[in-house]
Amino acid sequence: MNTKVAVITGASQGIGKEIAYQLAEDGYNLALISRNNEVLLEISELLSSKGCNVLPIPCDISDINSVRSAINQVINYYQKIDILICNAGIGVYNSLQQTSDDEWNKILSVNINGTFFITREVVKHMVKSKSGYVLFIGSEAGKQGFKNLSSYCFSKFGINGFAASLSKECKKYGIRVGVINSGLVNTESNSNIISSMKSTWLQPNDIAKIVQMTLNLPDHVVLDEISVHSIHHRL
Ligand SMILES: NC(=O)c1ccc[n+]([C@@H]2O[C@H](COP(=O)([O-])OP(=O)(O)OC[C@H]3O[C@@H](n4cnc5c(N)ncnc54)[C@H](OP(=O)(O)O)[C@@H]3O)[C@@H](O)[C@H]2O)c1
Repeated sequence: MNTKVAVITGASQGIGKEIAYQLAEDGYNLALISRNNEVLLEISELLSSKGCNVLPIPCDISDINSVRSAINQVINYYQKIDILICNAGIGVYNSLQQTSDDEWNKILSVNINGTFFITREVVKHMVKSKSGYVLFIGSEAGKQGFKNLSSYCFSKFGINGFAASLSKECKKYGIRVGVINSGLVNTESNSNIISSMKSTWLQPNDIAKIVQMTLNLPDHVVLDEISVHSIHHRL
């Protein structure tokens, strides 16, 4: 039986939800984080009915107090965290001149502050247990620039730098760190894109399968960075 505990941020929809379904199937004990408690409860009930241990935690990752309370709840419930899937994130599609202060602040507070807060709180516990895997859901836009995605690219490049540093810093504690830099995925966040080709994009479950594959590697193997896109589509 799998006794590992995985915390997944942004588990209420899209990629995070599919990762939750996949890890539930693989027998992990889950803590699911997002702001939408109602949806988290629905997902948790479904997964619990299939025999999975699930702790739904409403939390805004851009709020440090909310993050501290969420991670304390996970530790009180499970006593440990083995895996962090840092997936929650938002996008802004706008030219630099059209990007409002509000859009910029949201990108900063969720993609940068939120990712930093949750990682720092979780890694604190992984350091104590001298093991763990932190996997960031990054983006193609964290490796190359795209027109009208400058603020999003800014944040996703940041995540790659953060992960590369953490990987070196945390090695001595047996903590593995990796980033999955994904191309376009057919999720709700892209509902504004009108395309008849969405079935040929990456699907959320494709990313969940890559997470599964990464977590199944032997303990001494680290995949620092995975770049993935659909063979039919590349930005
Ligand atoms: N879709 C793509 O094409 C694509 C490609 C490459 C990388 N990515 C990355 O993959 C990740 C997931 O993308 P997605 O397409 O699945 O997005 P999505 O469908 O919009 O889902 C985003 C998730 O993040 C949560 N979230 C947003 N703000 C939050 C906050 N302040 N605190 C806690 N949770 C928050 C949302 O839940 P609540 O609203 O309930 O809080 C939701 O569960 C993102 O980091 C994105 O940048 C996506």
